[in-house]
Amino acid sequence: MSRLDASALNAACQAEALPWRVQVADEIGSTSDAVRETAMAGEPAGLVLFTESQTAGRGRRDNRWVTPKGKDLMLSLLLRPDAPTALWPRLTTLAALAICHAIEDELPLKPMIKWPNDVYLHDRKVSGLLAEAVTPPQGMAIVLGIGLNVNTGDFPPELANSATSLLTALQRPIIRELDRQQLALVLLRQLHHQFQRLDHDFHESVAEVRDRSWLIGRQIRATVEGRELFGHAMDLNSEGHLILSLPDGTLTTLSSAEGVRQVV
Ligand code: BTN
Repeated sequence: MSRLDASALNAACQAEALPWRVQVADEIGSTSDAVRETAMAGEPAGLVLFTESQTAGRGRRDNRWVTPKGKDLMLSLLLRPDAPTALWPRLTTLAALAICHAIEDELPLKPMIKWPNDVYLHDRKVSGLLAEAVTPPQGMAIVLGIGLNVNTGDFPPELANSATSLLTALQRPIIRELDRQQLALVLLRQLHHQFQRLDHDFHESVAEVRDRSWLIGRQIRATVEGRELFGHAMDLNSEGHLILSLPDGTLTTLSSAEGVRQVV
């Protein structure tokens, strides 16, 4: 297992004029908590903190995010886009696309997006996103946390049927380990590239998410602000929000959800 190399990532970011300052921790509670704290202490946008291991990794709905040391990618970015804050919710859509493109740039896999925040391979979750607002004195920012399962082979029993990793999805037992350093760089490149769409041609991004949608066409149950909604996932609107057809035939649009699962 090779450790992520912050100097090499920073050199590559500089060579490619990417706006990231990369740090790599050996072990940390949660990269998102750590980035939030540095933001509150005045850190400017552009910080990207990776860690080899997390002791208190968080997912949405207070879920834990647990992965073995040195196997996967766990990172949080501090973002303060120039675009109006009303457009910032688009960041998760764009980050999901960046993850898909990074995977496709490196591997013969076809990731899909499970609205709102997950990336799927072969009907299983390979990556999750957690976007949180932070309001330091220098102005509001977003801490965007990304977990991408790269080399994990064995998942705990409760995740065995719902999670996967890039290595597992490749179904090529001869490969023992994927190059996380290379994946990290491609991901940073794609994140910067996709974020350019925040206030420019976002409709093209939504069209791509629609093509990659794992959810559209399925019967789903969504938890929205603690309320359970059941319906048919019809489409995405121009903001990437989910249009759900309810059992009484009415349509409702969801801008986000704490949890979404398919009903079979
Ligand atoms: C989800 O699918 O619920 C979101 C998972 C986000 C996990 C990442 S790992 C890096 C960053 N630090 C955290 O504590 N969480 C995010």
